[in-house]
Amino acid sequence: RHNLNISSIQIFMLSVTFCNSPTMIVMVGLPARGKTYISKKLTRYLNWIGVPTKMFNVGQYRREAVKIYKNFEFFKTDNEEAMRIQQNITQNISNESPKTQSHNLERRAVINSFAKEKGYKVFFVESICDDPEIIAENIKQVKFGSPDYVDRDIDDAMEDFVQRIECYKANYKSIDDEKDRKLSYIKIFDVGSRYLVNRVQDHIQSRIVYYLMNIHVTPRSIYLSRHGESELNLLGRIGGDSGLSPRGQKYANALATFIKGQKISDLKVWTSHMKRTIQTAEALGVPYEQWKALNEIDAGVCEELTYEEIQENLPEEFALRDQDKYRYRYPKGESYEDLVHRLEPVIMELERQENVLVVCHQAVMRCLLAYFLDKPADELPYLRCPLHTVLKLTPIAYGCKVEPFFLNIEAVNTHRERPGVSFHKHTSVIIDTYLCQLSALWDVAYCASDGRQ
Ligand code: F6P
Repeated sequence: RHNLNISSIQIFMLSVTFCNSPTMIVMVGLPARGKTYISKKLTRYLNWIGVPTKMFNVGQYRREAVKIYKNFEFFKTDNEEAMRIQQNITQNISNESPKTQSHNLERRAVINSFAKEKGYKVFFVESICDDPEIIAENIKQVKFGSPDYVDRDIDDAMEDFVQRIECYKANYKSIDDEKDRKLSYIKIFDVGSRYLVNRVQDHIQSRIVYYLMNIHVTPRSIYLSRHGESELNLLGRIGGDSGLSPRGQKYANALATFIKGQKISDLKVWTSHMKRTIQTAEALGVPYEQWKALNEIDAGVCEELTYEEIQENLPEEFALRDQDKYRYRYPKGESYEDLVHRLEPVIMELERQENVLVVCHQAVMRCLLAYFLDKPADELPYLRCPLHTVLKLTPIAYGCKVEPFFLNIEAVNTHRERPGVSFHKHTSVIIDTYLCQLSALWDVAYCASDGRQ
């Protein structure tokens, strides 16, 4: 099993247990250089690919110890009382992360010896940026939402934060290419315009490097939609490769109108290799790319059966799937876990792209949605992805905003409730419709990954 933690002291840390040898990933950089953004995103990615990850942010411990933040003077290195408080904080959390020192070079040395003692590997991620516009934008985007600045005037908060950066600058030393040549690290310059990678030790570190080199911060939206209702959907049969039903075709046309109305510049359209997604995309009248990786979960021996038939003919399989839907693999088919691995290149390419419409399938859409919304494996196979509903995902601050658009074309309900959730069928349909139509409600439910709701 893998295991992962992240912590911060103006440094963030993350640790991965890989092949019984944990790795700490330590974020380095001045304030407003995107350390929290990178940590959260990387944690979400690692969790999604099956590496349990936890993030520690020492700023949070500081806020717990000093309930009311007054101003930047707390961060001055000659503020003895504040330094004592900072040291107490890190002593209290020393079981989770190493002790802090006032100088960040010393901190790195302490982290290294702490890791050595525990048998952890260490990988540093340094974010370097001197572009004042990027820094100001970062402060505006995320720092004003910080608990330190609740009810503070915007100009006043900006001024205070700039001073806070100056306090850190007094002691800040970038990772030295010569002196630190034995360390494993990636330096990210100006939000990814250039990188320097040193001594990658193993597979997990190379995946982290690959991921960090693919992400970007350009504003964009990703549209997720299932294909229009298919002939097999109408019969309640799973899998197969049928074409669209007449209502499915109507949805394809409605989707085309909806997408035109969004006035999206440079939209890429992706489908699976299956008829129903291709027929849906055809109605858009624009070029589209077909990905085999986007094909629906392979239900193996259960392909083209109804859930009732599976329960009747393969009762053991049916029960096993209900016990652990994420890990259950259909005989001669796939599990949701397999699907996540199959979809990893799709996620990587989505990270590289800007506006994209992905026309896919129920299980595939759940996996993609879980990545963007940071949903755990046990919730993933039960996420609601109804037919004829587009989900528009827009990255905001540290999370992702979700807007659902039900395109007003009726369709069958293909969602099977988690066993034990004894919803009356009729109630469930009412709730589905309600959720589809009340986009505000979905926003609240789904924006939770932002952590600031
Ligand atoms: O029923 C439509 C469908 O896309 C099937 O092809 C697929 O097997 C199923 O949904 C996945 O949903 P679940 O994992 O809930 O059975």
